[in-house]
Amino acid sequence: MSGTLTTLQNDALATLEGVRDEAGLADWHRDVLGRKGTLSAAMRELGSLDEDARRERGRELNALKQQLEAAFEARQDAIKAAALNERLRAESIDVTLPGREPFVGNLHPLTAMIREVSDVFAHLGFQTVEGPEVELAEYSFDMLNIPKDHPARDVWDTIFIESDNVEITLRPHTSPMQIRTMMQQEPPVRVVVPGRTYRYEAQDATHEWHFHQVEGLAVDRGITMADLKGTLAEFARQMFGAGRKVRFRCDFFPFVEPGVDMSIDCPFCGGRGCRTCKNSGWIELLGAGMVHPNVLSNVGYDPKVYSGWAFGMGVERLVMLKYNVQDIRLFAANDLRFLGQFARARL
Ligand code: FA5
Repeated sequence: MSGTLTTLQNDALATLEGVRDEAGLADWHRDVLGRKGTLSAAMRELGSLDEDARRERGRELNALKQQLEAAFEARQDAIKAAALNERLRAESIDVTLPGREPFVGNLHPLTAMIREVSDVFAHLGFQTVEGPEVELAEYSFDMLNIPKDHPARDVWDTIFIESDNVEITLRPHTSPMQIRTMMQQEPPVRVVVPGRTYRYEAQDATHEWHFHQVEGLAVDRGITMADLKGTLAEFARQMFGAGRKVRFRCDFFPFVEPGVDMSIDCPFCGGRGCRTCKNSGWIELLGAGMVHPNVLSNVGYDPKVYSGWAFGMGVERLVMLKYNVQDIRLFAANDLRFLGQFARARL
């Protein structure tokens, strides 16, 4: 083979060796084997040779052409195989890798506690109902035996909504739902009413200006204080453990007579006295009492025929007690580090 063809051959094969991808292959094919490529240029020179030289050179050129075509195909196969391997490597799925745990939210502890309370009372025969947070003062107070200018009205630190002729409150307790429920139905009544309540109060570790209560109301013929004590003691034991002791003491709420507060022996120290129970051994859970005859009359129930009992308790305080939460403001702070801790609690 002449020197020029050897150079052409060496150059072409060396360049082909350096080709790494399909685009490079196409360029090489165009530059070497294409119509305007180096091999075609060499072929075109055949015409200027005499016959013998042309035959000789033609044979050499054909052999070179075949060699280069074969080299091209081999390189093409190699590049395709490399590309396929690379894709297989990149797209492969390692089924042995542990999966990524999806983010699963959980109920807000207050929602969960409300459901738990409703559940306990459902098993005791109580229906859960809800009522408006923006409430007539008539239901928040008057019908509950707290007339205008009665000093007890101040106790509730009520947020009033401006209004020309009707007094409207953001309900300071869930007790107005006692009135709404009794006005809507005849006895027997057995309801619990969870919901949000509002008071014009300074915040601290145990007081919020917006919080939740669960109201309870049972009215029927022959209901006595024994029903109140039995039902609430059962609730406390289901919520805080079968061994819980309960204590009832006199308290005053205008809509009950007699009125009581109920405490449980401190679940943290078993009643011996600790910081949580302020060394008293008892923790107050709720206010309750026998529905005042005036309240029964206000809704059209005959107090000589019917009697009932009611209670109201703070939901935040229940969760704080059950899970040893030290600051009530955490419930509305939207901090997932706090809220996420309740994911596995039996709520
Ligand atoms: C009442 O609101 C009465 N309606 C309860 C009642 C109902 C008594 C039926 C008799 C019969 P009191 O103001 O004590 O009562 O509030 C009840 C509970 O709400 C308290 O024991 C407490 O757990 C919770 N609570 C009251 N104020 C706040 C506050 N600022 N922040 C958080 N929880 C509060």
